[in-house]
Amino acid sequence: MTDTNNISIKRVEKSRLENLDFENLSFGRDFADHLFVCKYSNGKWGESRIEPYANISMAPSIAVLHYGQTIFEGMKAQKNDDGDIFIFRPEKNVERMNKSAVRLGMPEISEEIFVEGLKELLKIDREWVPNKTGSSLYIRPFMFAIDEYIGVRSSDEYIFMIITSPVGSYYSEPLRVKVETEYIRAAEGGVGFAKAAGNYAGSLLPAKKAMDEGYHQIIWTDAKEHKYIEESGTMNLMFIIDGIIITPPAGNTILDGVTRDSALTIAKDLGYKVEERRISIDEVIEAHGNGTLEDAFGTGTAVTITHIKTIGFNGTDYELPAIDTREKSLKMLSQLEAIKLGKGEDPHNWVVKI
Ligand SMILES: Cc1ncc(COP(=O)(O)O)c(C=O)c1O
Repeated sequence: MTDTNNISIKRVEKSRLENLDFENLSFGRDFADHLFVCKYSNGKWGESRIEPYANISMAPSIAVLHYGQTIFEGMKAQKNDDGDIFIFRPEKNVERMNKSAVRLGMPEISEEIFVEGLKELLKIDREWVPNKTGSSLYIRPFMFAIDEYIGVRSSDEYIFMIITSPVGSYYSEPLRVKVETEYIRAAEGGVGFAKAAGNYAGSLLPAKKAMDEGYHQIIWTDAKEHKYIEESGTMNLMFIIDGIIITPPAGNTILDGVTRDSALTIAKDLGYKVEERRISIDEVIEAHGNGTLEDAFGTGTAVTITHIKTIGFNGTDYELPAIDTREKSLKMLSQLEAIKLGKGEDPHNWVVKI
């Protein structure tokens, strides 16, 4: 046991790294040797620890299993050819985790515990960060309620944990997405803006139905009229109509994506016109009809910028322009990737070198 930056560290006796096939990484099935953990009790966060990744023991009565009081984040670490490791805008994830925490009646966590803990974890598991194009170490910080109590109320005790997973691409091809007009993801006043596990649980059945129909993902529409576009399963959405990049505003029913914000900033830096406003599915279909729909794509940590090739709406599939014609989003993607790998300029100081 050692102690670094007030984090007590217990290392694995034997690494599992030799069992990992870096050439054939899937998404989210392999986990690095160590995890970071910190417990909240008596109104404060306690000692930070790094330990071997292992099963956790819990009482069947713990609150999270019954009322879903749990939130999470998603980030990535990338390694360049020199072996340097970078993370991207970690302060945004801390900020969003705390917004989620407040909405779910959970305690906030300091940037120090979250980011210093993560940095230390990445130093210890640095060999787990892939450096092949398209691969990365996915980082999953999460917090959950652990009171052994099945009354419905906010818990007094919580665990904050970070696990990491070497991953390949989330999608291997441009997407077929279906506009959802039966189910909803979030409504005004709900928890749509939070990265709360329950948002995802409620999306699984509609997503499975869409997949059974041959789509990769759903496009959620607003809860009142199923008219305005919200976001997709794990990504925010952008459309380019007549040269203008249009994206729904990050109000309180969609997740305020870090990639969304970064892509919009890059677009503005490149001199592209950007509009953050409500966009209806009718507007998108009309633009498709008159030839002004140039592009549609999703943005997210797991997917980076992923192009949409087909939009299914009310039983019709609308095919979008060929991917290689999508100059603006391809440029945004390459700039974003370069910044994340510490290559070239980082005008907004987004990357943090480990
Ligand atoms: C529902 C949802 N929307 C959007 C995003 C994109 O957010 P970010 O760019 O911060 O990863 C995610 C990502 O994880 C998501 O789960």
